[in-house]
Amino acid sequence: MTGITHPKIVVTGRIPDAGLELLRSIEGSDVWAWMDDAVIPTDLRDEQLADADAAVTLLTDRVDDDFLAAAPQLRVVANVAVGYNNIDVAACTARDVLVTNTPGVLTDATADLAMGLILMSTRRLGEGERLIRSDTAWQWGMFMMLGTGLQGRTLGIVGMGAIGEALATRARAFGMKIVYHNRRNVGVEIERRLDARRVDFDELLATSDIVSLNCPYSEATHHLIDAAALAAMKSTAFLVNTARGPIVDEAALVDALIDDAIAGAALDVFENEPTVHPGLLGLDNVVLVPHLGSATVETRAAMATTAAANVAEVVAGRTPHNPVSG
Ligand code: DGY
Repeated sequence: MTGITHPKIVVTGRIPDAGLELLRSIEGSDVWAWMDDAVIPTDLRDEQLADADAAVTLLTDRVDDDFLAAAPQLRVVANVAVGYNNIDVAACTARDVLVTNTPGVLTDATADLAMGLILMSTRRLGEGERLIRSDTAWQWGMFMMLGTGLQGRTLGIVGMGAIGEALATRARAFGMKIVYHNRRNVGVEIERRLDARRVDFDELLATSDIVSLNCPYSEATHHLIDAAALAAMKSTAFLVNTARGPIVDEAALVDALIDDAIAGAALDVFENEPTVHPGLLGLDNVVLVPHLGSATVETRAAMATTAAANVAEVVAGRTPHNPVSG
């Protein structure tokens, strides 16, 4: 792979300074960065991409044929996210554009959030918060807002990658049992440490008290949780999604929550993000947070520097640390 002498690097969204500094420290680099939290206007983006060698993108960017057509000399797209379903990897590959992501650095933050959502939904914390803020009179009561304890309950993890494993580690500390559904076995060492058992999808749905989605989004996982999957869950079970919104058929979830077909859900991601299905908004048995999985100061800085380091490798003519394939 040949290096790039004076790379023009376009950063399509606001990223932490640590990432920008690393990009600017690349010898000969010319860094152009959109410094606003709003999504970059397409005409400005395309104008900047015209002579770009590298693009640092966010999950709100669609890197598709139009994006690539605007960037004829592009060599790398460094996504500041572990998920890269916003990128048409096949279209990039067809144009010899490398794609990279940021695995590893957001594992703990996302697993922490998933554990938080499990606690929020099973212990009805959002509901309790809303009660206090509504200024309604209340008083401690023996039977007030009773939730579900986690000890001895089964957590079913769909997608036992790094985040799934980190969530399982946390759940074990809460006394939970672990089953998981994954394309491949995670190996005896991990299974032993987590006392985890690989099961098929149907068994996971039928036996889990909490179903946590931690798999990537793809055609294969589109609406994996549909009406049939929800009907196969225990009526006392909770669904937690910190992966990608379209893995869940949100309309079917609304129906299941209204009908008490499951006990509750907690969502960090949405099918048509940032739009949230209106049917979810009035329900007390669902916790809704705005895609905060990796949202810690430390993690976002690490994601930005990881993406920048991937660009630096390509500029130096080396294979990037985190290449992805379609
Ligand atoms: C990711 O990196 O894919 C996360 O969803 C961003 O928070």
